[in-house]
Amino acid sequence: MGRAAGNLCVCGPSGTGKSHFCEALGQAAVEAGMTVAWFTIEDLGAFVRRHRADDSITRALARLIRTDLIIVDDIGLLPVSPDAAEGFYRLVDAAYERRSLAVSSNLHPSGFDEIMPKTLATATVDRLLHHAHIVVTQGDSYRLAQATSGKRVSPLT
Ligand SMILES: Nc1ncnc2c1ncn2[C@@H]1O[C@H](COP(=O)(O)OP(=O)(O)OP(=O)(O)O)[C@@H](O)[C@H]1O
Ligand SMILES: [Mg+2]
Repeated sequence: MGRAAGNLCVCGPSGTGKSHFCEALGQAAVEAGMTVAWFTIEDLGAFVRRHRADDSITRALARLIRTDLIIVDDIGLLPVSPDAAEGFYRLVDAAYERRSLAVSSNLHPSGFDEIMPKTLATATVDRLLHHAHIVVTQGDSYRLAQATSGKRVSPLT
């Protein structure tokens, strides 16, 4: 397993900096000369649909996992469509022990069976967490703190 084949899971409540953390990680990877791809979970649904017509998903995934770091942001905020669940599983499986994935979620991965079919969730999470660091964010929402301190809001005149 190469240096780039470990995963990262950032989970915790809304507004606690998960996407911010993934953006910073992606930026650092780019600065270190690596390539980075960024998806939301629904982008993965669109990815599956785009390649379904001509059955090119396997080739498209093989191309995609040449990227050093693949980030999937905001899992669990919205219900996961069957296409997105399929895309997420396919990506995790294709990247398994080959490429690094970073995912951010409001749910701990052990709860992914609440948002996607249980068998698919189990197989996905099993691979995702086999070689993974888990970062749990906590505390109050940065958004709420900024909103209540009036940052970036000017008084209405
Ligand atoms: N460490 C930090 N220092 C300063 N600002 C931060 C920090 N972490 C996050 N923020 C800011 O707080 C806001 C919310 O952060 P972010 O979008 O990363 O939260 P999130 O955990 O992804 O939330 P959600 O689950 O709703 O997607 C953003 O404007 C972000 O720039
Ligand atoms: Mg987020």
